Amino acid sequence: MDWRGCRGAGVNTGYGQNDRMPLSDQAQADYFDFLRFPTVSADPSKAQTMRECADWLEKKFEEMGMKAEIVPTAGAPVVLAKWKKPGGLKRKTVLIYGHYDVQPAEMGDGWTGDPFEPRVIEGMVVARGSTDNKGQIFAHMLGVADMIRSGGAETDVVFVVEGEEEVGSDNLEAVLRARKEELACDVAVVSDTNMAGLDKPTLTYGLRGITALQVDLTGPSHDLHSGVYGGAVVNPITVLTRLLAGLHDKNGRVTIPGFYSKVRKPAAWERKAARDLGVSDAEVRRQAGSPALGGEAGFSAIERIGMRPTAEINGITGGYQGPGPKTVLPSKASAKLTFRLVPNQDPKEITARVEKDLKKRCPKTVKIQVTRHHGGFPYFCDPKKGFGPAAVRALSQAWGGEKVHFLLEGGTIPIVSVIKKVLGVETLLVGLSQPDCRAHGPDETFPIRYLEQGAKMNQALLRQIAKA
Ligand code: BES
Ligand code: MN
Repeated sequence: MDWRGCRGAGVNTGYGQNDRMPLSDQAQADYFDFLRFPTVSADPSKAQTMRECADWLEKKFEEMGMKAEIVPTAGAPVVLAKWKKPGGLKRKTVLIYGHYDVQPAEMGDGWTGDPFEPRVIEGMVVARGSTDNKGQIFAHMLGVADMIRSGGAETDVVFVVEGEEEVGSDNLEAVLRARKEELACDVAVVSDTNMAGLDKPTLTYGLRGITALQVDLTGPSHDLHSGVYGGAVVNPITVLTRLLAGLHDKNGRVTIPGFYSKVRKPAAWERKAARDLGVSDAEVRRQAGSPALGGEAGFSAIERIGMRPTAEINGITGGYQGPGPKTVLPSKASAKLTFRLVPNQDPKEITARVEKDLKKRCPKTVKIQVTRHHGGFPYFCDPKKGFGPAAVRALSQAWGGEKVHFLLEGGTIPIVSVIKKVLGVETLLVGLSQPDCRAHGPDETFPIRYLEQGAKMNQALLRQIAKA
């Protein structure tokens, strides 16, 4: 792979204020090839595409001069790639994690073009995965490729790129355990989180966790005529909507007993850092395109997103939803729920509490079944400790001396807490997503110049980690 041009024609200009690493045509072409794989991990029919994309990544890592390997799993393969400075000097090792799978994307969701045929519109690359997470992991690859090409990085590097992040990373923990020695590192780096805004360098120091489940209610053994039976037979949709409506009280708090018992109280500096982000409720409302905001009383939108747990209804199904009316009294009703968790909530414990509460509140007039789906622990790492200060220096440097923002993220990256548990290291969350990038939505975007910017950030980070 030809990364020439990454840093200008072989000129090491250092990393000053007005530095530029013009993106080579080859780098952009490779990024676009990466985006063309429709690697939707939720879709079982994409298994072949997942393998092809993993093979493609393996080849790119090899071209960069790294030792790459595909690790098969029960699901999509994991790509590992290592680079060690020749000479056997004892240096720090940085593990860079990312994912090549993406969320589903269909024209019917509101895309203005094929989600898997990247387009550049006013400097923005529009494609599924342009940001989450192909653009971000690719920027790190560019940074490392450029360093290797111009004499080597200042730390040893190992990449772990998986294909199941968007469906809960169920098979990655086993790979980390099996390859524990090979993956030994001093710190992990993950770019899969939001920035406070464009060119506002941001260190994310916490993520919410998650637990997902499905509730199925069954009433009559088959769909009934709503005139012949209606009024006499219990409708499972009515029961379900009552159950779901009861998940929150009038102050927007989750009603599950014990739900908040382990919730960590943020320190005063954290609430100040949240205010310093300068993201008003009105701005969040504007980004969401919603007529109003709602949630737990007593917190700003940014606090609700980063510091507070939630109960969310992701989907609800039952009865007839086709064209025109149908007078049916349905046999079944179901809903998919997720709960976003904050430190120190435990997904297993919360799931048990939710299941118990739903079963207790569900009247005996219907049968209830609760199925547990994926889960992930929340994450928190004090940015004033460990490699946090090195990351802050690197971010500031990469953005020409800009002030660094500190963020508690509402989303979840399940593997981050697993990295800590299995490999014993903290993760620096240095995402490049813009708040309005529409990750998971139609017309996802990534600023094309952020490939270079991200590569530059990667290099500053490896240097600062080496020095720390
Ligand atoms: N990149 C996101 C996590 C994220 C979202 C970080 C927004 C920062 C801002 C990640 O790819 C993702 O979407 N994760 C899932 C995990 C889930 C399927 C277990 C999520 O948060 O829903
Ligand atoms: Mn992601």
